[in-house]
Amino acid sequence: MSKPKVAVLLGGRSKEREISLVTGEEIYKALLQKNYPAFKIDLDENIVENLKKESPDVVFIALHGRCGEDGTVQGMLELLGIPYTGSGILASALGINKIVTKRIFKAEEIPTAGFRALTLRSFRAGKQEIIKDLLTDPGLPLVVKPANEGSTIGMSIIGEAEGLSEAIEMAFEYDKEVLVEQFIEGTEITVGVLGNEDPQSLPTLEIVYDSEMYDYETKYTKGMSNHIIPARIPEEHRKRAREMAIRIHEVLGCRGFSRADFIVSVDGTPYALEVNTIPGMTPLSLFPDSARAAGIEFPELVVKIVELALEERRPEQKP
Ligand SMILES: Nc1ncnc2c1ncn2[C@@H]1O[C@H](COP(=O)(O)OP(=O)(O)O)[C@@H](O)[C@H]1O
Ligand SMILES: [Mg+2]
Repeated sequence: MSKPKVAVLLGGRSKEREISLVTGEEIYKALLQKNYPAFKIDLDENIVENLKKESPDVVFIALHGRCGEDGTVQGMLELLGIPYTGSGILASALGINKIVTKRIFKAEEIPTAGFRALTLRSFRAGKQEIIKDLLTDPGLPLVVKPANEGSTIGMSIIGEAEGLSEAIEMAFEYDKEVLVEQFIEGTEITVGVLGNEDPQSLPTLEIVYDSEMYDYETKYTKGMSNHIIPARIPEEHRKRAREMAIRIHEVLGCRGFSRADFIVSVDGTPYALEVNTIPGMTPLSLFPDSARAAGIEFPELVVKIVELALEERRPEQKP
């Protein structure tokens, strides 16, 4: 049987364009190495015509952030009838919004830091009151983040009351919804999940760094962070986090692959921060590193994700 023709969709307009170009290049090289007829395609306004011209059997979506990871590209591919890697429209759209994701975590009793969601209108209308409330519940220290950005863009960690209002204003420059959550002390880990109906978790990966948070620079500069696999926490805490990552994958309705970020407190509670429906796939990225620890080398991982994309969807999972 001949191998499916794979279009690696990369670039795009989001703030994470540069990362996408690296992720896409790595995926493209891996597919060629595995003898797949692969080609790269940049996400621009001619995307529909270009896809129709090339008519790939499957699209590998190597995009991050808005207009890529958020369900928009998934919707376009659904309309064109082209199978694609990773989650469908709904899970992608849910996963991109940290506030909506946390509301689902709460409803499903998945541990997550206490939080409040702010809209620009509500904040402007009752600034003083809101600041006062936040200082009591969840209380300092707090983390302020735009609901929809990735790679810590627009985020702040606030240890003292003074900086809070300013941090919220700054986050609103990136988004019309802002999340203010309790800062959790503990071990920062991430857990990858691979699969469709019967998803499997990858080994826990502990992230170690010197900077204040695992921000854009720390993530993408070689030597600024270290990955420790498995995480240096008791085996039973690791097990709990891996189970939680699978539950998150299922509860959001993810497909193919996903990666959930947690802070594990000393008592072993894995506080879920967010879920990434298209984890980074650069040479420095977390997901490929965890897969490698599970004995899945990068080219095999890429092939596996393509194969999962081509598996028949259950009727209720169509889009
Ligand atoms: N509630 C929190 N408690 C402690 N650290 C946090 C918290 N929220 C975020 N962080 C830190 O900020 C980083 C980025 O936050 P995250 O919500 O994963 O957003 P993104 O990865 O999309 O930028 C985390 O990896 C962690 O280092
Ligand atoms: Mg994260």
